[in-house]
Amino acid sequence: MQKFLSDLGSCTAIIGAQWGDEGKGKVTDILGEHFDVIARACGGANAGHTIVVGGKKHVFHLLPAGCLHEGKPVVLGSGMVIHLATLLEEIETLKRAGVNLLDRLFISGSAHILFEFHKNIDVVMEERRGAKGIGTTKRGIGPAYMDKAARSGVRMEQLTSDLAAVLTEKAKAVKSMYGIDVDMEAELGALKTAAALLKHTIVPSLPDFLRGFIEKKKTMLIEGAQAVLLDLDHGSYPYVTSSFTTATGALQGLGLPPKILSSCIGVAKAYCTRVGSGDFLTEDTGEAGERLRERGGEYGSTTGRPRRTGWLHLPDLKYGAFINGFTAINLTKLDVLDTEKEIPVGIGVEAGGKVIYEKLAGWQTSTKSITEFSKLPKAAQDYVLFIEKQIRVPIRLIGTGQGREEIIIRN
Ligand code: GDP
Ligand code: IMO
Ligand code: MG
Repeated sequence: MQKFLSDLGSCTAIIGAQWGDEGKGKVTDILGEHFDVIARACGGANAGHTIVVGGKKHVFHLLPAGCLHEGKPVVLGSGMVIHLATLLEEIETLKRAGVNLLDRLFISGSAHILFEFHKNIDVVMEERRGAKGIGTTKRGIGPAYMDKAARSGVRMEQLTSDLAAVLTEKAKAVKSMYGIDVDMEAELGALKTAAALLKHTIVPSLPDFLRGFIEKKKTMLIEGAQAVLLDLDHGSYPYVTSSFTTATGALQGLGLPPKILSSCIGVAKAYCTRVGSGDFLTEDTGEAGERLRERGGEYGSTTGRPRRTGWLHLPDLKYGAFINGFTAINLTKLDVLDTEKEIPVGIGVEAGGKVIYEKLAGWQTSTKSITEFSKLPKAAQDYVLFIEKQIRVPIRLIGTGQGREEIIIRN
């Protein structure tokens, strides 16, 4: 662990290498203990990061999973869209679990507020797309970023202002465009409740605030949300989210200079999943895919939707490694493959669009809870080494179960 940590350096980003739900939360929780500041940069409550600590499950949507470590400053970046009631609920849930956050939470004043009507618009827009629906999480993400890009959004720095007039204007536009009646009383009430609890957490200039930490030589861990293939610019458009999900996007979302990043961990499942619509070349809609879903518990932590399942596609991992500059990979959920006789891995695509598979031998024995690479069955070691060789990034973390301790760290 020590060698691994010293290789990470002072600022590490954790980035999803596939279509999300790779297990970013688990690795943030594990590494969080060793960093001074923990941050989320972009996205909103479309994220669902589940961790299991001491047998107890915690699900985060807006807060970084690393926030369980008492006393550490937790930052929500300018690139985020924040649904206030969801945030308050997360803070309250933590409080009930004995974790206090309010005195160490710092929210960028430039982050946008995601209103209830953004969620309603998301639903209407999906309906209007019909068969071409994106399969959004219906958390209002697209509409909130639409307001941001149109420069008509409301930011966290306005939380304590009187927003009645602004929202009345907004309500008129929402009604005429989408036929939605905005519940003004509920929206204003939510703002008031949130203002009372959160006003002291709002940071006017996040870059200046973070510079203070950097000048004091504090280390920082950034928990990415979503994943490379869902990136608005570099993902499978239009079947993407509305934020920037890469390492560069995370730095932009926090207002940090690119040179600050000392390492970037790409998180990839040992197979592949996707929720929502869009291409999934290595999807397996047969029995094996069903097995992956059941063994891997592949049901969305935000929406409960069954995730589509399939196999690794190495060209995608190479793509993500390039865009993000992965310095290490965390291959997660290796244990889910324990019962497979043979494991197909997509290594390329023929001119006609057909995936070329390499079939690797399965190990058909349990890898659950193993914490040393040498204790893995030979075929499982070979599987990891094959992927590593192909993508040319060291696989330094390997997940062997949901629990915090169920991980192999390779020095
Ligand atoms: P995230 O969005 O990237 O943080 O990932 P999610 O939390 O949405 O989905 C990952 C799921 O896999 C969670 O339920 C984790 O508890 C679970 N998980 C993470 N790593 C492992 C692992 O190595 N093995 C198994 N079996 N489950 C894991
Ligand atoms: P984490 O952080 C998996 C997907 C949705 C949909 C598309 C657009 O848990 O990995 P949106 O609601 O963002 O407008 O939906 O993006 N999506 C995710 N899929 N994990 C996520 O987050 C996701 N966030 C968004 O399913 O296909
Ligand atoms: Mg998730």
